[in-house]
Amino acid sequence: MPADSHTVNVPRFMAMKSQNRKITMLTAYDFPTAQMIDEAGVDSILVGDTLAVVMQGHATTISATLDQLIYHGEMVCRAVKRALVIVDMPFLSYQISLQKAIENAGRILKETGCQAVKLEGGEEQAGTIAGLVNAGIPVMAHVGLRPQSVNQSGYRVQRDEEKLLKDARAAEQAGAFGVVIECVPEDLAAKLTKTLSIPTIGIGAGTHCDGQVLVTYDMLGLTVGPIPRFVKRYADLNQNISNAISQYCKEVRTGDFPNDEHAYK
Ligand code: KIV
Repeated sequence: MPADSHTVNVPRFMAMKSQNRKITMLTAYDFPTAQMIDEAGVDSILVGDTLAVVMQGHATTISATLDQLIYHGEMVCRAVKRALVIVDMPFLSYQISLQKAIENAGRILKETGCQAVKLEGGEEQAGTIAGLVNAGIPVMAHVGLRPQSVNQSGYRVQRDEEKLLKDARAAEQAGAFGVVIECVPEDLAAKLTKTLSIPTIGIGAGTHCDGQVLVTYDMLGLTVGPIPRFVKRYADLNQNISNAISQYCKEVRTGDFPNDEHAYK
């Protein structure tokens, strides 16, 4: 395959909006999952700081570290041939100063091989987004519910239209190539999508965004316990895996596994 003929890069990702092609995005934190997602034809893979919740069992994303995002991002990038890979900037890796933000985002790009970073914020992060973009680092913004600010805002639907519009426009003007919109009423997300010339990627933001993102473990039914209303379960892997493991235990205990088929003669 010629090197770049089928890969999704930042310009192609952005062009999908004007081409009216819905953008698909899922999270991944490891090699095999990223490989499956990429081979299934998903346009973009996010190495999210949700790894702190999904992979590590924490209650929030706040504890995710830069080194962890780089560690997981590197595994994901090694698996991906087509999708645009975006790695999250974790809490306090971009808020302290522009210089720190550039150093940290630079490490993410250099050490993982991903094409872009994502950070939470709009208006108040506009200077940082512009600084990163000026340094040659593509940035996706994240407005609406910002899980890194959960201690200030909690997990609830964001309905402040003026703030959302200001945040999204500021991110666009600062040079962001796209924006995740999390937990926002559908009509408001539709308005943001119409207002912006960059793609909007919704999670809990209804059907009118330019694309959708979900946490892969949620949509595959791998996460245990309650899930947000906006998640659709496309599989029940938890149950499948649990059944397979019970069956394995049963067969080992009865002597049905291994049988002749699995033994060397
Ligand atoms: O960290 C993450 O996985 C995210 C998505 C939920 C959008 O930011």
